[in-house]
Amino acid sequence: MGRRVGVVGAGYVGLTSAACLAHRGHNVVCVEKDKSKVDRLTEGTVSIAEPRLPELVSEGMANGRLTFTSDPNRLAVADIVLLCLPTPMGPGGAADLGAVDSILPMLAEVLPVGCVLVTKSTVPVGTARRIAELLGRPDVPVVSNPEFLREGFAVQDFLHPDRIVVGAAEPPAATAVIGLYLGMDAPVLRTDTASAEMAKYASNAFLALKLSYVNVLAELCEQVGADMSDVGRTMGLDARIGPAFLMPGPGWGGSCLPKDTNALLNAADSAGVDFGLLRAAVLANTRQRDTVVRKIRTAATGSPAGSIRDMRIGLLGLTFKAGTDDLRDSPALVVAAELVAQGAILTAYDPCVPLAGQEGLPSVHLVDDPYLVAKDAAAIVVLTEWPEFRALDWAQLAAVSDRAVVIDTRNLLDGEVLAGTGFVHTGVGKPGVTRS
Ligand code: UDX
Repeated sequence: MGRRVGVVGAGYVGLTSAACLAHRGHNVVCVEKDKSKVDRLTEGTVSIAEPRLPELVSEGMANGRLTFTSDPNRLAVADIVLLCLPTPMGPGGAADLGAVDSILPMLAEVLPVGCVLVTKSTVPVGTARRIAELLGRPDVPVVSNPEFLREGFAVQDFLHPDRIVVGAAEPPAATAVIGLYLGMDAPVLRTDTASAEMAKYASNAFLALKLSYVNVLAELCEQVGADMSDVGRTMGLDARIGPAFLMPGPGWGGSCLPKDTNALLNAADSAGVDFGLLRAAVLANTRQRDTVVRKIRTAATGSPAGSIRDMRIGLLGLTFKAGTDDLRDSPALVVAAELVAQGAILTAYDPCVPLAGQEGLPSVHLVDDPYLVAKDAAAIVVLTEWPEFRALDWAQLAAVSDRAVVIDTRNLLDGEVLAGTGFVHTGVGKPGVTRS
């Protein structure tokens, strides 16, 4: 049976949750304080680049199950309210709960008796309990139901989750939240609120650990003459390890992994728990960007200590991964900034970063054509694994470049395709360079 659901916040998590819950038959009102955002959404404009999201928003608005408003009083008839507010990294690495805290007085006033309040965005362990105290509404249970949405797959992940975790102090409140997901083919875990909150951090931090492990392993493979691709494939076939998150790259980034690892480290520090293991993973990730810059310098100059001053270097990809337009905490930008600091002149192309984004990217000259990136370049660096880069005419890129050198930080390019184009190709975790 469709429930009356309120969603607070029409950001990435809120909008995806609202549109998907409406698609699942619930009646959803999405409350967003930014009125211009509400206007744009009401006109049907979705500014988040997420497959299927615009279609689901239109579908919900057309059948009347999804509405947008900036009037919080619309929450007065909700059975369940999901808090989908940003929790950015605050000073010292702890999650900043300012947005959540500031909305509680309004919620205390407007929520109907017996409504269930749910934290959906990532919040520190203990937040559900803290919200319950601050809210001062014993009739409103606070439940933790964290999201596990990947950018670029948010709708897919919401509608087909690996698992659903619902942390609640009162079983009926948990049952009400589980009711939102009835019919979904996913294991449901009932826990206390702290465990659900921790499960989110634990998952993201574990992914970060796995990636840092892989990136350092890739460096070791290069030194000892092993191939990380084969090592990763072998590891991934062990069911206890699994095949995902075994691809080395320029380091992990995005809006979640850096923020959540720092928040968990901060929580461990506050609790007096030595989480050196996670701290090492974060440090390894910072170091990974230096490793990439050194690799670029070596490939471009022939020596790790060579100078790239006044050298033209072309960058393919700027977003933190393919399938998103998100530049937040993108390793590509850190690498770009360091190359510029060392005197390189950068031209960059990313299929999802429009030329209008140039203002936010002072260190690079953005172009709207990947072939312009190659023009007169002493080296081309692939920083994001956009599949279309594989299909470029690499012979033409070689022809227009100054030196046909490519550093492929994602192991994206096909050696077979590059063979014969004249490119010298350096991957990650490979024994030596591949000469065509
Ligand atoms: C992540 C979590 O996966 C998701 O569950 C959570 O809700 C939000 O954070 P997202 O930030 O979209 O999702 O990125 P993800 O796909 O997990 O990738 C994270 C980073 O790891 C990216 O920088 C990506 O390029 C990198 N990565 C991933 C690798 O370098 N190699 C891999 O094999 C996989």
